[in-house]
Amino acid sequence: MKYIITLSLSLFLLVFVNSCKDKPEVEAEPMATWDVIQQNILNTKCISCHVAGSSQANQSNLILTSDVAYAMLIDKTPHNTAAALDGYKLIGTAGLESLSKSFFWEKVNAPNQEHFYEDHPEYGEIMPPGAIPLTNGEIEFIGQWIVAGAPKTSEVASISLLDDDSYFILDTTFHVLAPPSSGV
Ligand code: HEC
Repeated sequence: MKYIITLSLSLFLLVFVNSCKDKPEVEAEPMATWDVIQQNILNTKCISCHVAGSSQANQSNLILTSDVAYAMLIDKTPHNTAAALDGYKLIGTAGLESLSKSFFWEKVNAPNQEHFYEDHPEYGEIMPPGAIPLTNGEIEFIGQWIVAGAPKTSEVASISLLDDDSYFILDTTFHVLAPPSSGV
């Protein structure tokens, strides 16, 4: 009798220990790229202005809070008249060809700002205005998402891109031109 109890107890322990050991590690669900953009970028750097009822939201006709941001951006015509006439969408969904036709992208792509301001003075300011631009990691992350068709629910860019927190600084130093090798 004692033997049977000991045996069943050790069997129980064996099964119990094994069941713990075999349990697969619970992996965190990958977050949709759009959700990361909403939480890490829009919620922290944009919605102070782009929130329902603010004068800036009225001026830009753009609300970027999580309840409406995706719907307000995808395949929508910009409020900026010049950009609308130039055939931009706020964010297009045709992948690579949409990148250069997405006004949202133009507005956050700080490294491209010389072209932005010189060629399109009527496009308003780089966003967020007057402050530190989006980091190069954030810009790359958004760019890859647009190239992938700007999906709402899938993961299409590596979140590790956001580790790059360097950002574009406009070089305003005066460059002395090298003298021409011939002529004047
Ligand atoms: C300090 C307030 C402020 C902040 C912060 C801000 N914006 Fe704006 N945004 C504006 C104003 C004002 C306009 C309209 C004038 C302009 O386009 O420059 C605008 C316009 C825009 C437009 C153009 C909308 C259209 O249809 O013409 C986009 C896109 C935009 N913002 C995206 C962003 C994003 C993305 C962020 C965060 C990275 C951001 N904004 C942060 C004030 C702000």
